[in-house]
Amino acid sequence: MQIKEVAKRLNTTPRSIRFYEEKGLVTPKKDSENDYRTFTEKDIVRLSTILAMREIGIPVKEIGVILKNNDMSIRDYLNIQRSALFEKWIEMKDMIGTIDQMIDSTKDDTYSIEEIFGLSQHLKEMKNARLNWKDKWNFDNQAHSYDQNIKMCGYRFNVHQDYDEALTKVVETIRVKSEHVCLDIGVGTGNLGSKFLSNDTKVIGVDQSEKMLQMCKSKFPDIETRKGHFLALPLMDNHVDSVVTSYALHHLTDKEKILALMEMDRVLKRQGQICIVDLMFLNEQHRAEVIENFRESGNSEAIGAIEDEFYADRSILIEWLVANNYQVSTHQFNEILSMIYASKIK
Ligand SMILES: C[S@@+](CC[C@H](N)C(=O)[O-])C[C@H]1O[C@@H](n2cnc3c(N)ncnc32)[C@H](O)[C@@H]1O
Repeated sequence: MQIKEVAKRLNTTPRSIRFYEEKGLVTPKKDSENDYRTFTEKDIVRLSTILAMREIGIPVKEIGVILKNNDMSIRDYLNIQRSALFEKWIEMKDMIGTIDQMIDSTKDDTYSIEEIFGLSQHLKEMKNARLNWKDKWNFDNQAHSYDQNIKMCGYRFNVHQDYDEALTKVVETIRVKSEHVCLDIGVGTGNLGSKFLSNDTKVIGVDQSEKMLQMCKSKFPDIETRKGHFLALPLMDNHVDSVVTSYALHHLTDKEKILALMEMDRVLKRQGQICIVDLMFLNEQHRAEVIENFRESGNSEAIGAIEDEFYADRSILIEWLVANNYQVSTHQFNEILSMIYASKIK
């Protein structure tokens, strides 16, 4: 299809399309003799994804990063559009919620400007946290070898010690009811989510890494994969019966972890359940003791691994869950691996 037709079909201008071409976001075939461009169906879907992302305010540079892979299927493009829209929707919801709170706090004349200022600061922090999270571990690169790597032990430190036992424990702990919808966040190659698959249970796997999602889909076609992240889950409110996550939450800072819990809570139905298996310390004192022990024994491998990630302080997560009406129980597999099970009280 020629540029004019494409512009008409997508309700845009040839000039805009040329601009995205100049930025390297779309690369139609060019006739060497007359320089005419020909757009394939895939180019058109890619362009419509670019336009949708621009529509919701994503900068061109960022779109370039999101669409770095040129070899995506139409489904991948739609997945990306959905995840970007959810991000925007959650941001708008937060803004409306904050305005509601502000209006509420100005009901009588006793309100303080600090309180209102605090609310808008909080909103800004949430927005920045969503925007600033970066995959510094490059999970796209790990997807292919992930299942092999988890079987390997480090020289003096094995983060995947008790991996199978931990995943099994999550499945044993979640109470599955009929027509259950289970969300696995940071689904990776699907090792945890797949354990819930049955005729009566639907599993949705969310991950920020496209390659992980592709790997998951090829291993377990019945898992519905969605691109998205902990801080903006691509799901409507009250949508799932359980949220599970394994070995993923420690890629978020402490502040981000609380935002992630808020997101889990948002998508969970009433009386829903959350089960988190992850690398974490019981509290700050425990963190200091464990690190000190590694230091004394000269285990720099362990210290390097811990410092490269954000192992949680379990007590902070529990505190948030209890304060938000969850009944909480825990299980500890080894010095650095714990499970938190939380069920929402009516
Ligand atoms: C170590 S793997 C764990 C995969 C799987 N859950 C398991 O237990 O084998 C971590 C996964 O979490 C995903 N992840 C990390 N941070 C994330 C975030 N902020 N939002 C969504 N997924 C994230 C990564 O892309 C990766 O697939």
